[in-house]
Amino acid sequence: MPFRKLGKTDIEVTPVSMGCWPITGITSINVTREQSLATLQASFDTGINFYDTAYCYGYEGESERMISEVLGSHREDIVLATKCGIHWKNKVQQRDARPETIKQECEESLRRLGTDRIDLYYLHAPDPSTPIADSAGAIGELIQQGKVLTAGASNFDVAQLNAFHSACPLTAYQPHYNMLQREIEDAQLPWCIENDVSVCVYWPLMKGLLAGQLARGHQFEDKDGRKKYPMFQGEEFQKNQDFIDVLRGIADDVDRPVAQVVINWTMQRNGITAALCGAKRPEQIVENAESMQWTLTESQVAIIDQAIQDRGPIVSRGAV
Ligand SMILES: NC(=O)c1ccc[n+]([C@@H]2O[C@H](COP(=O)([O-])OP(=O)(O)OC[C@H]3O[C@@H](n4cnc5c(N)ncnc54)[C@H](OP(=O)(O)O)[C@@H]3O)[C@@H](O)[C@H]2O)c1
Repeated sequence: MPFRKLGKTDIEVTPVSMGCWPITGITSINVTREQSLATLQASFDTGINFYDTAYCYGYEGESERMISEVLGSHREDIVLATKCGIHWKNKVQQRDARPETIKQECEESLRRLGTDRIDLYYLHAPDPSTPIADSAGAIGELIQQGKVLTAGASNFDVAQLNAFHSACPLTAYQPHYNMLQREIEDAQLPWCIENDVSVCVYWPLMKGLLAGQLARGHQFEDKDGRKKYPMFQGEEFQKNQDFIDVLRGIADDVDRPVAQVVINWTMQRNGITAALCGAKRPEQIVENAESMQWTLTESQVAIIDQAIQDRGPIVSRGAV
């Protein structure tokens, strides 16, 4: 397995990481607990060792609990990343990254995960009511206490990265990034390369769009969280489908699924350490893990890069 180091640490992770949001079923449809547990098991069986979850994945921490249930006995073989600073109140997300909240969420995540340490602990998103240095300081204290091995930040701009990094050195940064959402290439990505901070990206498959399985006429159910994102609507959706047709051509040439072409491209980008690939079915994560077994050629990458340029700017939206 082609392991990569996280930042300046000796922690080694697979470039395909299992994203543990869809298994909660909050925004994904037709998710069952049984399938979610089977997906985690299938992920481990592929050799993926990097698990991405958060305090707020599940209204009652279901994602962290399921990870513990399935992977608890393999604790020393996996790298656990979770996040703090967002919680639910009456099923509405609240940002709260005050030091006392972070410390309390950390204790609860440790309990749910059934472990004595979190390997990578991210601040999920900046809390406008709390100075970033205060939140970072709290994570620094947790590192001092051995409850957390190393720190990360998600959904930050460069000023926020600098503020965090000055108070507590960062090992990883987690933004959204995929073929069509490359905003971080202007500032955050160069900053991370310069500072030896790993970039672990979410939405490599653009919430499933870039897996190429959704038909042009796909009708999204009301419960499907993707319905509210412009990239799945009207003309934007059709332009994205035109772009995916190019990927479908490459997938046919290499006799691989479109999802693997997309994850492969992502993993190869300069400065990208890991692609956090969400899955809700065992076969999806098995397929995604196989992206680690082959490599796109330079000419295929060039065709993709041209198609991205031809697609032009998309109507983009972040997760938080
Ligand atoms: N830090 C943050 O603020 C933040 C925000 C969002 C996500 N994340 C993290 O990043 C991870 C990835 O994001 P994500 O899960 O939202 O999106 P994603 O990885 O871009 O897409 C995942 C979805 O794509 C579809 N899919 C996956 N593999 C497939 C395959 N081989 N073939 C066909 N369809 C496939 C599935 O949806 P369907 O089967 O329903 O089509 C799956 O739920 C999350 O799980 C989470 O750990 C972090």
